[in-house]
Amino acid sequence: MSASDGLYYWEYLQLDRLLDSQRLESERVGGPAAHDEMLFIVVHQAYELWFKQILWELDAVNATMGQPHIAERELSQVVQRLERITEIQRVLQDQLPVLETMTPLDFLDFRELLVPASGFQSVQFRLIENKLGVDPDHRPLINQQPYTAVLEEEHARMIEAAAEEPSLLSHVEHWLERTPFVHWGGFDFWQEYRATVEAMLEREAAIIRQDAQLDEAGRAEQLAAHEATVHTFASVFDRERYDELREKGERQLSHDAFVAALLITLYRDEPAFQMPHRLLTALVDIDEGFTAWRHRHALMVHRMIGSKIGTGGTTGHRYLRQSAERNKVFRDLYDLATYCIPRHQLPELPAEVSQQLGFRFHTDPDVAQASTGPGGS
Ligand code: HEM
Repeated sequence: MSASDGLYYWEYLQLDRLLDSQRLESERVGGPAAHDEMLFIVVHQAYELWFKQILWELDAVNATMGQPHIAERELSQVVQRLERITEIQRVLQDQLPVLETMTPLDFLDFRELLVPASGFQSVQFRLIENKLGVDPDHRPLINQQPYTAVLEEEHARMIEAAAEEPSLLSHVEHWLERTPFVHWGGFDFWQEYRATVEAMLEREAAIIRQDAQLDEAGRAEQLAAHEATVHTFASVFDRERYDELREKGERQLSHDAFVAALLITLYRDEPAFQMPHRLLTALVDIDEGFTAWRHRHALMVHRMIGSKIGTGGTTGHRYLRQSAERNKVFRDLYDLATYCIPRHQLPELPAEVSQQLGFRFHTDPDVAQASTGPGGS
């Protein structure tokens, strides 16, 4: 077979360019090749390829989620793409042990040649962060400079432009706000939920007050802990308080979006909420995937360079641990677990709501296709 017979593997994958893209800095400066520099380059390039794929998926997901109406079929595609990202994240984690076969001494053979370059300058990583919705106010400052200060102007502009566009977080927020079942006919989810929680908290307080096993100090301690729980719930029941917390950056989602996310989480067994629930789960998985990777990367950095500063000029592993905690995106979705109550205590859905949330066969194509928010049809 000759290459002219049709598509050729080498050409299709542009392997000429791809496999000619590993230039060892140790050789370029005229010294002997540092053996492990090849591994260092290949691992970073593999990461950048996977970042490219993640961006490909994220752009498609954002395009769908940014629409004013999302059909069920499109939602399942969004979930499939988000779940693909979480699988890629597993591969990203698994690449670190490969790099760790390089010892700190091997790294020192070429490390100083890298200054001031660093993964800190990964443009694609910053694009992913911004397209997901990393809060710019949460980013740690480096030497009093923003994170884009270390980038070429064109790259800084691209990243800043991505930060200006609506992120996945904001698309999800608007989609949640359109959830139709929060108020449905005579059913007011929030009112029912609040009454159930307040009764539950009152029962719990009564149990502590009447517990004969507790001495006075133990009782006071438990009542104080219970009061803290009451306070946590009160901060979501009081909308003004909630908005104040949001203003301070302690809450991300609007109150309507938060209530809808809780409704989906609590009633996720209802057929119409299964896909929305998978979507919320995938978002938490992605956040967890990046947070876990950041912590794992920080650990690797600690063993590789100890307490030295990074080639990019940060405090190294200390900075990285801080950025892992501060750059979480879907914090409010993590927090939903705080407000979950046992299934057997959930307010029962009225029959008409339950029926709407079940799978039904529609003969009217408008009803079958149209969907406004999670589970809306
Ligand atoms: C020997 C291996 C590595 C070492 C010693 C290392 C070290 C560091 C250090 C010290 C930083 C903080 C910035 C600085 O001061 O330079 C950093 C940031 C970063 N590194 Fe690495 N790194 C390694 C491998 C990797 C790999 C394989 C990737 C994959 C792309 C990567 C991606 C990143 C990213 C994205 C950041 C920015 C994180 C943030 O700002 O939250 N690093 N790295």
